[in-house]
Amino acid sequence: MDRKKITIVGAGNIGATLALLLARRETADITLIDINEGVAKGKALDIMEASPILGFNAHVHGTGDYAETAGSDVVIITAGFPRKPGMSRDDLLFKNFEVVKSVSEQIKKYSPDAFVIVVTNPLDAMTYTALKVTGFPKNKVMGMAGVLDSARFAYFISEKTGISVENINAFVIGGHGDDMVPLRKFTTVAGMPVTKFLSKEELEEVIQRTRFGGGEIVRLLKTGSAFYAPAASILEMVLAILWNKRKILSASVYLDGEAGEYYGASGLCVGVPIILGKEGVEEIIKLDLTDEEWADWRKSVESVKRLVEKLPL
Ligand code: APR
Repeated sequence: MDRKKITIVGAGNIGATLALLLARRETADITLIDINEGVAKGKALDIMEASPILGFNAHVHGTGDYAETAGSDVVIITAGFPRKPGMSRDDLLFKNFEVVKSVSEQIKKYSPDAFVIVVTNPLDAMTYTALKVTGFPKNKVMGMAGVLDSARFAYFISEKTGISVENINAFVIGGHGDDMVPLRKFTTVAGMPVTKFLSKEELEEVIQRTRFGGGEIVRLLKTGSAFYAPAASILEMVLAILWNKRKILSASVYLDGEAGEYYGASGLCVGVPIILGKEGVEEIIKLDLTDEEWADWRKSVESVKRLVEKLPL
């Protein structure tokens, strides 16, 4: 049986880290593609040279030619530019829109049956761009942000409580931005409410740190943004699809119709709890939120909407 084929567009920090993580799990053969062909080829070769030591059989291949990505089962879009000092969110929006648009056209041409996972920021607007440009069904296009934001939330809870990360189940929905919505009620420690272990003030502190978790890393790195946890988060989503886990996690997906009405949002992509399996987004889970969480949710959706409305689609 042929191995599955995964394409990672963008061989930067996230793309290359993800390629190594995926290769080590022997999930699929991987094509790394970048506008800078040498970087894609060099990093792919470097990863393959680690294979005899780490003992994996998956093949990682670098290229600058989309023809070599043909027939991919999953395509991950990490191509884009980070926000630089002096650059507004709108500047980033239009620059990365052009990148994601051109990448999506190539995906449509060469891998018409692929699942697409978008990572490029601003995440929810770029997921919407990929969905519209590929024209793929809405269960096949999703953005990775909720898994990362939830992982940060979980880690900060673990750090504050001194209890193992394995016991923490944390959940963040909404847009991938400063007004994301960490859910207090659905965040538990070994199944018990997190409020049993953290005071209200401590929990609010953790929530604030989660909201600005990306910025905290940028400030420390100075010349880039987070990549280990983002790559691990994408791995989680890829495995849920390829191994048909039907895993409940938070992802940015297209809301309309029934789910849209429930969440009071439609015609855009934003982070909600989903069941992720072999059909991609198999279900959107409806939550019973508190009044405070609903207010946060609506604010977050408005921020995403403002960006999406600016897109020349
Ligand atoms: N096609 C293919 N690759 C591209 C294109 C393009 N049109 N434009 C840029 N790239 C490549 C760059 O050459 C670079 O190798 O995308 C890669 C991005 O890598 P990094 O700058 O290291 O960014 P990374 O940290 O991996 O983050 C990727 O995710 O967090 C988001 O918005 C953030 O855009 C960033 C993306």
